[in-house]
Amino acid sequence: MKGKSHPRNDLTLNPSGNDSILDVISRLDVSRRRFVQGSASAGMLAAAGGITLSGIVNTVEAAAAAPVVGIGFEPVPASLAPVADVVTVPAGYTAKLLVAWGDPIMPGGVAFKSDASNTAAEQMKQYGMHTDGMHFFPFPSRGQILSDRGILCANNEYTHEEVLFPAGQTGSDVLGAGYTIEKCRKSQSAHGVSVTEIRRVNGKWTVVPGSVYGRRITANTPMRVAGPAAGHALMKTSEYNVTPTGSVATGKSTDGTTANGTVNNCANGVTPWGTYLTCEENWNGNFGATAALPNATTEAGKLYNRYGVAAAGAGYRWHTVDPRFDLAVNPNETNLFGWVVEIDPLDPKSVPVKRTALGRFKHESAQYVVDRANHLAFYMGDDERNEYIYKFVCDGKYNPGNNAANRNLLDEGTLYVARFDADLSGTWLALRPETIGVNGVALRDNPNFVGADDAEVLAKILIKTRMAADAVGATMMDRPEWTGARPRVNGNDEIEVYCTLTNNNRRGTATASANKIDGSTTAASARPPVDAANPMEDNIYGHIIRWRENGQSVLATGFTWDIFAQCGDTATSKAAKPTNDYKGNINDTPDGSADIGAPDGLWFDPFGRLWVQTDQLGNATGDWVNLGANSLSCADPVTKQFRRFLTGPNKCEVTGITMTPDGKTLFVGVQHPGEDALAANPTQFSSWPSSQWATRADGVTPLPAGRPRSGVVVITKNDGGIVGA
Ligand code: FEO
Ligand code: CA
Ligand code: CA
Repeated sequence: MKGKSHPRNDLTLNPSGNDSILDVISRLDVSRRRFVQGSASAGMLAAAGGITLSGIVNTVEAAAAAPVVGIGFEPVPASLAPVADVVTVPAGYTAKLLVAWGDPIMPGGVAFKSDASNTAAEQMKQYGMHTDGMHFFPFPSRGQILSDRGILCANNEYTHEEVLFPAGQTGSDVLGAGYTIEKCRKSQSAHGVSVTEIRRVNGKWTVVPGSVYGRRITANTPMRVAGPAAGHALMKTSEYNVTPTGSVATGKSTDGTTANGTVNNCANGVTPWGTYLTCEENWNGNFGATAALPNATTEAGKLYNRYGVAAAGAGYRWHTVDPRFDLAVNPNETNLFGWVVEIDPLDPKSVPVKRTALGRFKHESAQYVVDRANHLAFYMGDDERNEYIYKFVCDGKYNPGNNAANRNLLDEGTLYVARFDADLSGTWLALRPETIGVNGVALRDNPNFVGADDAEVLAKILIKTRMAADAVGATMMDRPEWTGARPRVNGNDEIEVYCTLTNNNRRGTATASANKIDGSTTAASARPPVDAANPMEDNIYGHIIRWRENGQSVLATGFTWDIFAQCGDTATSKAAKPTNDYKGNINDTPDGSADIGAPDGLWFDPFGRLWVQTDQLGNATGDWVNLGANSLSCADPVTKQFRRFLTGPNKCEVTGITMTPDGKTLFVGVQHPGEDALAANPTQFSSWPSSQWATRADGVTPLPAGRPRSGVVVITKNDGGIVGA
């Protein structure tokens, strides 16, 4: 077996003996479940005395009117240069640090060492680096769902090697001299997902130390591969025994149904049956090659080219000490990445599953919607310049009364890609063997996907999703990031989905070019002209698009759309271009007070408020001099009014957001504070969170100085009310 001697964090027992949340829910009275699922917002769940997975996870499918709550806080000003190295929230709110990179979250975990001398084995039991998308899964108790105890499932997108080790990536320190397998394993262990039990005791939020639910899923965790691409020849790789001291080839090939690890976990999703979805984004950068990659005329070389895989990688160097990531000796390993991975957050022994039916690209979030007929779809972005927006529609209906029946819904269905037309309508183009491409050739006859039968054709379409989308004429977008579905509350009956298009500095620039329909485009290289859905040349500030499914059904192949907001700087001094004055049209009072750029995280709370996070330089220089540090804003989907709710510390990204079911605790991620610091001076740009607080939210655990740490902030309203109201 692969990885049997590698330290694993997937327990074989649930030593607590406690019921999982699924056990509890399965025992609940079915009629009560239906009532709650069909009619309540999350804020009403506790009052209703009911509990359901869908209520816990989301309320997209909720139907009855909830009180109109509005946006009630006093906005915070932009954090201008020099950016204060703190998180700011509105008057009447309190922010504290819940958990940060390096905090122990599992049995046997040891404390973070502020000189970064924790070993790889220690990192395996600590919160990962560079927190990103996340979700709070509340525990049930006596038929109620709790808002003071649960599991925080969070992505750890990537690592900053200069800060991860005492002497940087190639220096000499306790982790070795030069680049070592120990450093590689620590980096791999700081990637992935952190499953952390948290609770509020006497009003203070804390990590439950040594929780049996605590788990790290890393770049080496054994996984299952499921869906139409599982077992295909392109998914078969060299088999390795992954150990702390090296990855040793067994000489055998895998069968294409197993994988090790997940990386570059950016945004996230959840399912209505209570599982967590982690989305693999810039996985290409974790690979490298000790020899030249094959020419782009070969099948492998063409795939690498279309997905941006390069021999040098993104600087991780894993491939120099771990042959599993060396494409010169293990060329198919990349095909095991670029998927959506499903994780049961409440079963530490569960094996994560790569769901290939949802396609392979640089996944951003996977936002689900259940329509009134219980059909289920997931909306997803592919974050690279000129890439596409997708939806996956399950063949089977969601069964609110039988979660066992839902467990493999993600394995059968149809993946669609979006075409946005100038008349504000759009079409979902099915990526199926029979679909006719813009060249008049069915995908099954396209050389990129040709196979022995349609099952193999579909496997290839999914492994080469970008090429299939090229072939059918999807609309090139300005870097699709998070998707979010407006809850059906406050009178909204529509299936209305939003997507951040974070920026595209190639849009509308010379010389114009498009993604090639034969799939041979080098990733991100095209320079598409402006179009109706991406109307700004040099779109450095990005925009937010939204669409409504025809007939309020997720099965629709047609939709209508509009641009919710064009981001920009009202006070910009940049010279206007013919289609871009860089000012945007953010609706705010006074004008310019809530300008944002590079929108990235996007999420609806259960009450219908839209929250938008940003990912720009974060130090209020250059194009960001008036917009300030990165931020979290709140917007009304009806009036489009924006207000700034939070600003982040210096050179951080604000990403990841979730809330307790009662709406009274908001969790927000702060990623890579002090980005770009070198090992010789890790606090050159930031020493957050120690720059802001002496202890974590528990009031006990010290926050030592020494280096900046990504982490999750917990925000409450001082009067105990609903956050944002
Ligand atoms: Fe990791 Fe597309 O943000
Ligand atoms: Ca404005
Ligand atoms: Ca992001």
